[in-house]
Amino acid sequence: MNEILPPGQGFRLPKFRLIILMLSPFLLIGGVVASGFAVNRVLPEQPAGPYSKTGLTTGTSLPDVEVENPDGNKLFLLHCANCHGAKGDGVGLAGLNPRARYFGYDKFKFVSTTNAAKTGGGMPTDDDLFGTLKRGIAGSPMPSFGHLPDAQLWALVGQVRKFVRVEVIVQRMKDSVKTKAELSEEGFDEKSDWSPVAIEKMRQMAEMEVAVGLSFALPNPFPESTPEGIAHGKLIFEKAACVSCHGTNGKGDGPQSKDPKFLNENGTKAVPRDLTAGLFKGGAAPDHIYSRVFLGIPGTPMPMSGLTVPPQDIIDLVHYVKSLEQR
Ligand code: HEC
Ligand code: HEC
Repeated sequence: MNEILPPGQGFRLPKFRLIILMLSPFLLIGGVVASGFAVNRVLPEQPAGPYSKTGLTTGTSLPDVEVENPDGNKLFLLHCANCHGAKGDGVGLAGLNPRARYFGYDKFKFVSTTNAAKTGGGMPTDDDLFGTLKRGIAGSPMPSFGHLPDAQLWALVGQVRKFVRVEVIVQRMKDSVKTKAELSEEGFDEKSDWSPVAIEKMRQMAEMEVAVGLSFALPNPFPESTPEGIAHGKLIFEKAACVSCHGTNGKGDGPQSKDPKFLNENGTKAVPRDLTAGLFKGGAAPDHIYSRVFLGIPGTPMPMSGLTVPPQDIIDLVHYVKSLEQR
Protein backbone atom coordinates (compact mmCIF):
# COMPACT_ATOMS: atom_id res chain seq x y z
CA MET A 1 0.00 0.00 0.00
CA ASN A 2 2.70 2.41 1.07
CA GLU A 3 4.49 2.16 -2.25
CA ILE A 4 1.74 3.87 -4.25
CA LEU A 5 1.51 6.90 -1.90
CA PRO A 6 3.96 9.80 -2.19
CA PRO A 7 6.81 9.44 0.35
CA GLY A 8 6.02 10.75 3.88
CA GLN A 9 2.24 10.91 3.33
CA GLY A 10 1.35 7.41 4.51
CA PHE A 11 -0.27 8.50 7.82
CA ARG A 12 -1.07 12.12 7.15
CA LEU A 13 -4.66 13.21 7.85
CA PRO A 14 -6.42 16.16 6.28
CA LYS A 15 -5.78 19.30 8.37
CA PHE A 16 -9.25 19.86 9.84
CA ARG A 17 -9.51 16.24 10.95
CA LEU A 18 -6.14 16.54 12.60
CA ILE A 19 -7.31 19.63 14.51
CA ILE A 20 -10.48 17.86 15.65
CA LEU A 21 -8.43 14.84 16.71
CA MET A 22 -6.09 17.05 18.74
CA LEU A 23 -8.96 18.91 20.36
CA SER A 24 -11.01 15.82 21.16
CA PRO A 25 -9.57 15.20 24.67
CA PHE A 26 -10.43 18.79 25.62
CA LEU A 27 -13.92 18.49 24.14
CA LEU A 28 -14.40 15.30 26.10
CA ILE A 29 -13.30 16.87 29.39
CA GLY A 30 -15.45 19.95 28.69
CA GLY A 31 -18.43 17.71 28.05
CA VAL A 32 -17.98 15.82 31.29
CA VAL A 33 -17.61 19.04 33.30
CA ALA A 34 -20.68 20.58 31.63
CA SER A 35 -22.80 17.50 32.26
CA GLY A 36 -21.61 17.55 35.88
CA PHE A 37 -23.03 21.04 36.23
CA ALA A 38 -26.24 19.95 34.56
CA VAL A 39 -26.65 17.06 37.01
CA ASN A 40 -25.82 19.30 39.93
CA ARG A 41 -28.59 21.67 38.96
CA VAL A 42 -31.05 18.83 39.27
CA LEU A 43 -30.04 18.15 42.88
CA PRO A 44 -32.63 19.41 45.36
CA GLU A 45 -32.12 22.93 46.55
CA GLN A 46 -30.73 23.63 49.99
CA PRO A 47 -33.23 22.96 52.75
CA ALA A 48 -35.65 25.83 53.06
CA GLY A 49 -35.54 28.18 56.01
CA PRO A 50 -37.81 27.73 58.99
CA TYR A 51 -40.60 29.92 57.67
CA SER A 52 -41.44 27.93 54.57
CA LYS A 53 -41.25 24.72 56.60
CA THR A 54 -44.10 25.80 58.86
CA GLY A 55 -45.91 27.68 56.17
CA LEU A 56 -45.41 30.81 58.25
CA THR A 57 -44.47 33.17 55.45
CA THR A 58 -44.42 36.30 57.52
CA GLY A 59 -41.73 38.04 55.49
CA THR A 60 -39.59 38.30 58.59
CA SER A 61 -36.32 36.42 58.40
CA LEU A 62 -33.74 35.24 60.85
CA PRO A 63 -30.60 35.65 58.74
CA ASP A 64 -28.26 33.50 60.75
CA VAL A 65 -30.35 30.34 60.68
CA GLU A 66 -30.02 29.91 56.92
CA VAL A 67 -28.41 26.64 55.94
CA GLU A 68 -25.37 27.99 54.17
CA ASN A 69 -22.65 25.40 54.12
CA PRO A 70 -22.82 24.06 50.57
CA ASP A 71 -20.42 21.20 51.14
CA GLY A 72 -22.13 19.75 54.20
CA ASN A 73 -25.48 20.11 52.48
CA LYS A 74 -24.35 18.41 49.26
CA LEU A 75 -22.71 15.61 51.19
CA PHE A 76 -25.89 15.16 53.19
CA LEU A 77 -28.01 14.96 50.04
CA LEU A 78 -25.56 12.43 48.63
CA HIS A 79 -25.07 10.14 51.63
CA CYS A 80 -27.85 10.69 54.12
CA ALA A 81 -31.01 12.12 52.54
CA ASN A 82 -32.28 8.74 51.33
CA CYS A 83 -32.92 7.77 54.93
CA HIS A 84 -33.01 11.09 56.81
CA GLY A 85 -34.87 13.16 54.17
CA ALA A 86 -33.36 16.14 52.32
CA LYS A 87 -34.25 18.40 55.27
CA GLY A 88 -33.20 15.95 57.97
CA ASP A 89 -36.80 15.28 59.04
CA GLY A 90 -36.35 11.50 58.96
CA VAL A 91 -38.63 11.02 55.96
CA GLY A 92 -36.40 9.83 53.13
CA LEU A 93 -37.10 7.82 50.01
CA ALA A 94 -36.02 4.65 51.82
CA GLY A 95 -39.22 4.94 53.90
CA LEU A 96 -37.67 3.28 56.96
CA ASN A 97 -39.96 2.09 59.74
CA PRO A 98 -39.15 3.16 62.40
CA ARG A 99 -37.88 6.19 60.55
CA ALA A 100 -34.35 7.55 60.72
CA ARG A 101 -33.63 10.34 63.21
CA TYR A 102 -35.61 13.60 62.71
CA PHE A 103 -32.92 16.08 63.66
CA GLY A 104 -33.97 18.68 66.22
CA TYR A 105 -37.29 16.91 66.88
CA ASP A 106 -36.17 13.46 68.04
CA LYS A 107 -33.60 13.51 70.79
CA PHE A 108 -30.08 12.33 70.14
CA LYS A 109 -29.40 9.03 71.85
CA PHE A 110 -25.67 8.65 71.78
CA VAL A 111 -24.38 11.65 73.68
CA SER A 112 -21.67 12.22 76.27
CA THR A 113 -23.05 15.42 77.76
CA THR A 114 -24.73 16.11 81.05
CA ASN A 115 -27.41 18.35 79.58
CA ALA A 116 -29.02 15.08 78.53
CA ALA A 117 -29.28 14.33 82.21
CA LYS A 118 -30.45 17.76 83.34
CA THR A 119 -33.01 18.63 80.71
CA GLY A 120 -33.47 15.44 78.76
CA GLY A 121 -32.28 17.48 75.78
CA GLY A 122 -29.48 15.17 74.74
CA MET A 123 -27.38 17.62 72.75
CA PRO A 124 -24.31 15.74 71.50
CA THR A 125 -20.82 17.17 71.21
CA ASP A 126 -19.26 17.41 67.75
CA ASP A 127 -17.10 14.45 68.77
CA ASP A 128 -20.21 12.40 69.65
CA LEU A 129 -21.67 13.05 66.20
CA PHE A 130 -18.33 12.41 64.51
CA GLY A 131 -18.05 9.08 66.37
CA THR A 132 -21.58 8.08 65.32
CA LEU A 133 -20.75 8.78 61.66
CA LYS A 134 -17.43 6.99 61.88
CA ARG A 135 -18.90 3.87 63.56
CA GLY A 136 -22.39 3.81 62.10
CA ILE A 137 -25.20 2.53 64.35
CA ALA A 138 -24.80 -1.23 64.88
CA GLY A 139 -28.04 -3.15 64.64
CA SER A 140 -29.79 -0.34 62.73
CA PRO A 141 -29.88 0.51 59.01
CA MET A 142 -27.42 3.37 59.53
CA PRO A 143 -24.07 2.35 58.00
CA SER A 144 -20.58 3.49 58.92
CA PHE A 145 -19.18 6.44 56.99
CA GLY A 146 -15.64 5.71 58.13
CA HIS A 147 -14.51 5.54 54.50
CA LEU A 148 -15.13 9.28 54.00
CA PRO A 149 -12.28 11.71 54.67
CA ASP A 150 -12.44 13.31 58.13
CA ALA A 151 -12.96 16.77 56.61
CA GLN A 152 -16.17 15.53 54.96
CA LEU A 153 -17.35 13.93 58.20
CA TRP A 154 -16.85 17.26 60.02
CA ALA A 155 -18.84 19.05 57.29
CA LEU A 156 -21.64 16.50 57.81
CA VAL A 157 -21.48 17.07 61.58
CA GLY A 158 -21.93 20.80 60.89
CA GLN A 159 -24.87 20.07 58.60
CA VAL A 160 -26.63 17.92 61.22
CA ARG A 161 -26.19 20.76 63.71
CA LYS A 162 -27.72 23.23 61.27
CA PHE A 163 -30.78 21.03 60.84
CA VAL A 164 -31.10 20.84 64.63
CA ARG A 165 -30.96 24.64 65.04
CA VAL A 166 -33.49 25.27 62.28
CA GLU A 167 -35.88 22.64 63.61
CA VAL A 168 -35.66 23.86 67.21
CA ILE A 169 -36.43 27.41 66.08
CA VAL A 170 -39.35 26.11 63.99
CA GLN A 171 -40.66 24.23 67.03
CA ARG A 172 -40.42 27.33 69.21
CA MET A 173 -42.27 29.31 66.55
CA LYS A 174 -45.01 26.70 66.40
CA ASP A 175 -45.30 26.91 70.18
CA SER A 176 -45.62 30.68 70.09
CA VAL A 177 -48.20 30.51 67.32
CA LYS A 178 -50.23 28.21 69.52
CA THR A 179 -49.87 30.55 72.47
CA LYS A 180 -50.77 33.45 70.21
CA ALA A 181 -53.96 31.72 69.08
CA GLU A 182 -54.88 31.03 72.67
CA LEU A 183 -54.05 34.58 73.69
CA SER A 184 -55.98 36.17 70.81
CA GLU A 185 -59.15 34.67 72.24
CA GLU A 186 -58.41 36.78 75.26
CA GLY A 187 -57.94 39.93 73.17
CA PHE A 188 -54.21 39.57 72.55
CA ASP A 189 -52.90 42.25 70.16
CA GLU A 190 -51.83 40.40 66.99
CA LYS A 191 -49.64 43.21 65.72
CA SER A 192 -47.40 43.19 68.72
CA ASP A 193 -46.40 39.59 68.00
CA TRP A 194 -43.43 38.88 65.72
CA SER A 195 -41.79 42.07 66.85
CA PRO A 196 -38.00 41.98 66.38
CA VAL A 197 -37.72 41.74 70.15
CA ALA A 198 -40.02 38.70 70.30
CA ILE A 199 -38.15 37.02 67.47
CA GLU A 200 -34.80 37.72 69.08
CA LYS A 201 -36.06 36.27 72.34
CA MET A 202 -37.18 33.12 70.59
CA ARG A 203 -33.85 32.82 68.82
CA GLN A 204 -32.03 33.13 72.14
CA MET A 205 -34.25 30.46 73.69
CA ALA A 206 -33.53 28.13 70.79
CA GLU A 207 -29.79 28.89 71.05
CA MET A 208 -29.88 27.85 74.72
CA GLU A 209 -31.72 24.70 73.85
CA VAL A 210 -29.21 23.62 71.22
CA ALA A 211 -26.16 24.51 73.32
CA VAL A 212 -23.90 21.54 73.97
CA GLY A 213 -23.78 20.57 77.65
CA LEU A 214 -20.66 19.76 79.63
CA SER A 215 -18.99 16.44 79.12
CA PHE A 216 -19.08 14.30 82.25
CA ALA A 217 -16.05 12.52 83.71
CA LEU A 218 -15.33 9.09 82.27
CA PRO A 219 -13.18 6.68 84.29
CA ASN A 220 -9.71 7.11 82.87
CA PRO A 221 -8.15 4.66 82.27
CA PHE A 222 -11.18 2.38 82.22
CA PRO A 223 -10.53 -0.41 84.78
CA GLU A 224 -9.89 -3.91 83.44
CA SER A 225 -12.58 -6.55 83.79
CA THR A 226 -12.20 -9.08 86.64
CA PRO A 227 -14.34 -12.15 87.53
CA GLU A 228 -15.24 -10.49 90.87
CA GLY A 229 -16.29 -7.28 89.09
CA ILE A 230 -18.48 -9.23 86.67
CA ALA A 231 -20.11 -11.17 89.54
CA HIS A 232 -20.77 -7.91 91.39
CA GLY A 233 -22.11 -6.34 88.17
CA LYS A 234 -24.64 -9.18 87.90
CA LEU A 235 -25.94 -8.33 91.38
CA ILE A 236 -26.24 -4.65 90.50
CA PHE A 237 -28.01 -5.57 87.24
CA GLU A 238 -30.76 -7.07 89.39
CA LYS A 239 -30.62 -4.47 92.18
CA ALA A 240 -30.74 -1.47 89.81
CA ALA A 241 -33.79 -2.99 88.06
CA CYS A 242 -32.03 -3.42 84.71
CA VAL A 243 -33.75 -6.85 84.67
CA SER A 244 -37.23 -5.28 84.56
CA CYS A 245 -36.55 -4.33 80.93
CA HIS A 246 -33.57 -6.35 79.81
CA GLY A 247 -34.65 -9.59 81.52
CA THR A 248 -32.73 -11.83 83.94
CA ASN A 249 -30.49 -13.08 81.15
CA GLY A 250 -30.12 -9.68 79.46
CA LYS A 251 -32.01 -10.86 76.39
CA GLY A 252 -34.25 -7.79 76.28
CA ASP A 253 -37.30 -9.77 77.41
CA GLY A 254 -38.01 -8.29 80.87
CA PRO A 255 -41.63 -7.83 82.02
CA GLN A 256 -41.73 -4.11 81.10
CA SER A 257 -40.81 -4.87 77.49
CA LYS A 258 -44.11 -6.76 77.11
CA ASP A 259 -46.25 -3.80 78.12
CA PRO A 260 -48.02 -2.41 75.01
CA LYS A 261 -47.49 1.08 76.45
CA PHE A 262 -43.71 0.62 76.51
CA LEU A 263 -42.99 3.43 74.01
CA ASN A 264 -40.30 5.88 73.01
CA GLU A 265 -41.04 9.60 73.35
CA ASN A 266 -41.91 9.85 69.66
CA GLY A 267 -44.58 7.15 70.07
CA THR A 268 -42.67 4.30 68.44
CA LYS A 269 -42.43 0.95 70.25
CA ALA A 270 -39.48 0.79 72.64
CA VAL A 271 -37.32 -2.31 72.44
CA PRO A 272 -34.85 -2.98 75.28
CA ARG A 273 -31.56 -4.09 73.79
CA ASP A 274 -30.76 -7.80 73.71
CA LEU A 275 -27.45 -7.46 75.52
CA THR A 276 -26.32 -10.94 74.50
CA ALA A 277 -26.20 -9.98 70.82
CA GLY A 278 -23.09 -7.82 71.15
CA LEU A 279 -24.66 -5.02 69.10
CA PHE A 280 -24.29 -1.66 70.84
CA LYS A 281 -25.73 1.24 68.91
CA GLY A 282 -23.70 3.87 70.71
CA GLY A 283 -20.43 1.93 70.40
CA ALA A 284 -19.18 -1.26 72.05
CA ALA A 285 -16.15 0.15 73.93
CA PRO A 286 -16.48 0.15 77.77
CA ASP A 287 -16.48 4.00 77.69
CA HIS A 288 -19.46 4.02 75.35
CA ILE A 289 -21.50 1.58 77.42
CA TYR A 290 -20.58 3.49 80.60
CA SER A 291 -22.00 6.67 79.00
CA ARG A 292 -25.23 4.91 78.00
CA VAL A 293 -25.79 3.54 81.51
CA PHE A 294 -24.72 6.75 83.28
CA LEU A 295 -26.75 9.14 81.07
CA GLY A 296 -29.50 6.84 79.84
CA ILE A 297 -30.63 6.93 76.21
CA PRO A 298 -32.60 10.17 75.68
CA GLY A 299 -35.95 9.77 73.96
CA THR A 300 -36.24 6.12 75.07
CA PRO A 301 -37.26 4.50 78.40
CA MET A 302 -33.62 3.52 79.08
CA PRO A 303 -33.08 5.49 82.32
CA MET A 304 -30.16 7.52 83.57
CA SER A 305 -28.44 5.66 86.42
CA GLY A 306 -25.61 8.11 87.08
CA LEU A 307 -27.42 9.88 89.93
CA THR A 308 -28.45 6.71 91.77
CA VAL A 309 -25.78 4.11 91.03
CA PRO A 310 -22.20 4.85 92.21
CA PRO A 311 -19.53 5.06 89.44
CA GLN A 312 -17.76 1.88 90.63
CA ASP A 313 -21.02 -0.07 90.34
CA ILE A 314 -21.57 1.30 86.82
CA ILE A 315 -18.07 0.09 85.90
CA ASP A 316 -18.98 -3.39 87.15
CA LEU A 317 -22.29 -3.21 85.25
CA VAL A 318 -20.34 -2.43 82.07
CA HIS A 319 -18.09 -5.45 82.55
CA TYR A 320 -21.11 -7.65 83.31
CA VAL A 321 -22.95 -6.40 80.20
CA LYS A 322 -19.85 -7.03 78.07
CA SER A 323 -19.60 -10.56 79.53
CA LEU A 324 -23.13 -11.33 78.22
CA GLU A 325 -21.98 -11.03 74.63
CA GLN A 326 -22.22 -14.45 72.99
CA ARG A 327 -19.20 -15.15 70.88
C1 HEC B 1 -29.64 3.49 55.43
C2 HEC B 1 -30.25 4.54 56.20
C3 HEC B 1 -29.38 5.63 56.79
C4 HEC B 1 -28.40 6.36 56.18
C5 HEC B 1 -27.90 6.27 54.75
C6 HEC B 1 -27.95 7.31 57.17
N1 HEC B 1 -28.63 7.14 58.35
FE1 HEC B 1 -28.35 8.19 60.06
N2 HEC B 1 -29.73 7.04 60.98
C7 HEC B 1 -30.48 6.06 60.40
C8 HEC B 1 -31.32 5.43 61.40
C9 HEC B 1 -32.34 4.33 61.15
C10 HEC B 1 -31.05 6.07 62.63
C11 HEC B 1 -31.66 5.74 63.99
C12 HEC B 1 -30.96 4.51 64.55
C13 HEC B 1 -31.46 4.07 65.90
O1 HEC B 1 -31.59 4.89 66.81
O2 HEC B 1 -31.71 2.90 66.04
C14 HEC B 1 -30.05 7.09 62.33
C15 HEC B 1 -29.53 7.96 63.27
C16 HEC B 1 -28.64 8.98 63.00
C17 HEC B 1 -28.13 9.93 63.97
C18 HEC B 1 -28.52 10.01 65.43
C19 HEC B 1 -27.47 9.57 66.40
C20 HEC B 1 -27.93 9.75 67.84
O3 HEC B 1 -27.10 10.05 68.70
O4 HEC B 1 -29.12 9.61 68.12
C21 HEC B 1 -27.30 10.79 63.30
C22 HEC B 1 -26.54 11.97 63.87
C23 HEC B 1 -27.27 10.36 61.91
N3 HEC B 1 -28.09 9.25 61.77
C24 HEC B 1 -26.57 11.01 60.93
C25 HEC B 1 -26.47 10.53 59.63
C26 HEC B 1 -25.68 11.17 58.61
C27 HEC B 1 -24.94 12.50 58.76
C28 HEC B 1 -25.76 10.39 57.49
C29 HEC B 1 -25.06 10.57 56.17
C30 HEC B 1 -23.61 10.70 56.21
C31 HEC B 1 -26.64 9.27 57.82
N4 HEC B 1 -27.05 9.40 59.12
C32 HEC B 1 -26.98 8.27 56.93
C33 HEC B 1 -30.42 5.67 59.09
C34 HEC B 1 -29.52 6.13 58.15
C1 HEC C 1 -37.28 1.04 81.66
C2 HEC C 1 -36.58 0.10 80.86
C3 HEC C 1 -35.08 -0.01 80.94
C4 HEC C 1 -34.31 -0.15 82.09
C5 HEC C 1 -34.77 -0.15 83.52
C6 HEC C 1 -32.95 -0.28 81.64
N1 HEC C 1 -32.89 -0.24 80.28
FE1 HEC C 1 -31.21 -0.44 79.15
N2 HEC C 1 -32.32 -0.08 77.47
C7 HEC C 1 -33.68 0.08 77.43
C8 HEC C 1 -34.09 0.34 76.07
C9 HEC C 1 -35.49 0.60 75.59
C10 HEC C 1 -32.91 0.34 75.29
C11 HEC C 1 -32.83 0.59 73.78
C12 HEC C 1 -32.84 2.08 73.47
C13 HEC C 1 -32.76 2.37 71.99
O1 HEC C 1 -33.81 2.39 71.36
O2 HEC C 1 -31.67 2.58 71.48
C14 HEC C 1 -31.83 0.04 76.20
C15 HEC C 1 -30.51 -0.08 75.80
C16 HEC C 1 -29.46 -0.46 76.66
C17 HEC C 1 -28.10 -0.68 76.23
C18 HEC C 1 -27.57 -0.58 74.82
C19 HEC C 1 -26.70 0.63 74.56
C20 HEC C 1 -26.28 0.69 73.12
O3 HEC C 1 -25.35 1.45 72.82
O4 HEC C 1 -26.88 0.02 72.28
C21 HEC C 1 -27.39 -1.05 77.35
C22 HEC C 1 -25.93 -1.42 77.42
C23 HEC C 1 -28.32 -1.03 78.46
N3 HEC C 1 -29.57 -0.67 78.01
C24 HEC C 1 -27.96 -1.34 79.75
C25 HEC C 1 -28.80 -1.18 80.85
C26 HEC C 1 -28.39 -1.32 82.23
C27 HEC C 1 -27.03 -1.73 82.67
C28 HEC C 1 -29.49 -1.04 82.99
C29 HEC C 1 -29.58 -0.97 84.49
C30 HEC C 1 -28.77 0.00 85.15
C31 HEC C 1 -30.58 -0.74 82.08
N4 HEC C 1 -30.13 -0.82 80.80
C32 HEC C 1 -31.86 -0.42 82.49
C33 HEC C 1 -34.54 0.03 78.49
C34 HEC C 1 -34.16 -0.07 79.80
